[in-house]
Amino acid sequence: MDNTALWSSLPLPALLVDEHDTIQDLNGVAENFLNASAKSLIGAPVWDRIAVDAPLEEAFARARAQGTPLFVNDVDVGTGNAPPMQCNLQIAPLQGSDGQMIFLISPRELANRVTKSEGVKNAAKSAIGMAEMLAHEIKNPLAGITGAAQLLSMNLSPDDLELTDLIVEESRRIVKLLEQVEQFGNLQPPARAAVNIHDVLDRARRSALLGFGAHMKIIEDYDPSLPPAVGDADQLLQVVLNLLKNASEASGKTGTIRIHSYFEHSFKLRRSDGSGQALPLQIEIIDDGPGLPQDIKGDIFDPFVSGRENGTGLGLALVSKIISDHGGWISVDSVPGRTVFRISLPRAPKDLIPVEET
Ligand SMILES: Nc1ncnc2c1ncn2[C@@H]1O[C@H](COP(=O)(O)OP(=O)(O)OP(=O)(O)O)[C@@H](O)[C@H]1O
Ligand SMILES: [Mg+2]
Repeated sequence: MDNTALWSSLPLPALLVDEHDTIQDLNGVAENFLNASAKSLIGAPVWDRIAVDAPLEEAFARARAQGTPLFVNDVDVGTGNAPPMQCNLQIAPLQGSDGQMIFLISPRELANRVTKSEGVKNAAKSAIGMAEMLAHEIKNPLAGITGAAQLLSMNLSPDDLELTDLIVEESRRIVKLLEQVEQFGNLQPPARAAVNIHDVLDRARRSALLGFGAHMKIIEDYDPSLPPAVGDADQLLQVVLNLLKNASEASGKTGTIRIHSYFEHSFKLRRSDGSGQALPLQIEIIDDGPGLPQDIKGDIFDPFVSGRENGTGLGLALVSKIISDHGGWISVDSVPGRTVFRISLPRAPKDLIPVEET
């Protein structure tokens, strides 16, 4: 990848600092943010230019020494001549360097604007570039976590092994997801296999109840005669997990999710060329939470549209991409107290369904 292009396409102020905390490089957005030219900034001590209202020295030194990233949210960052701005700071050691650090500054006002305004397609696009970069950065510490868990597992009793196995397995899943973020623009085309939807729903349900959905009641309401769908089980699992996660996060302390599957013979998607595609398999994720926020209702499937304080807004964008790659359809119907996400999928043709050996 061309690093100059990457650097200048970042939609956020970004600086590179050497081992003595001197600014070595910065992008155009950082010039604007600091209200000074690159020429005057390069060579200047970074802490002279960026004043942070939080004691960071110790955490910063640790991040540098251990090669781990440092995230600081909601700090006031002063830039010398302008009033301080509330920002999130992301500081990461440059891989393979000797103490060089990358600074990414997200002014909160800017973040809010990206969340809310309409004409953000370009910002969203370059923000995907940013997400790819972050995904890349997260994969390294994650590899460390997996490695450590594997080392630990060598001395453990079989009971405890289950826990390290869980760490390893879940880390793999995160790595896989990060890889999807990295390739968001060109997500792998889905595998074409017969998928038992209820296996997918079950896996998602169990995983939700163990983690993010532990506070929820999840009711299964399945049509047991549902034929297999055609698609990629892992990608569809991701879809259901994202929907369950949103429902759990929207519901506050407790809530109920109903997973409903049924067959609707007549459901057809009409393509622009006039041909119709039958999508008879229906999956609904229904929650009794507060419903979609009014102001983003029409845009929830766009990347980086989020109604949550810490949301990235990638969940539903990924859902919609995967479903459309499957030739399927997703719709939502939401009022306070009842939100329904409905996925419609094609059924697997006979030649894909393995003949059962009896
Ligand atoms: N079941 C739901 N009930 C209420 N609001 C929802 C529900 N599902 C989604 N939303 C709203 O849609 C927004 C976008 O969801 P999406 O999954 O794309 O992003 P996110 O959850 O904010 O972040 P991420 O999934 O990337 O962590 C959410 O922030 C939330 O405001
Ligand atoms: Mg989400």
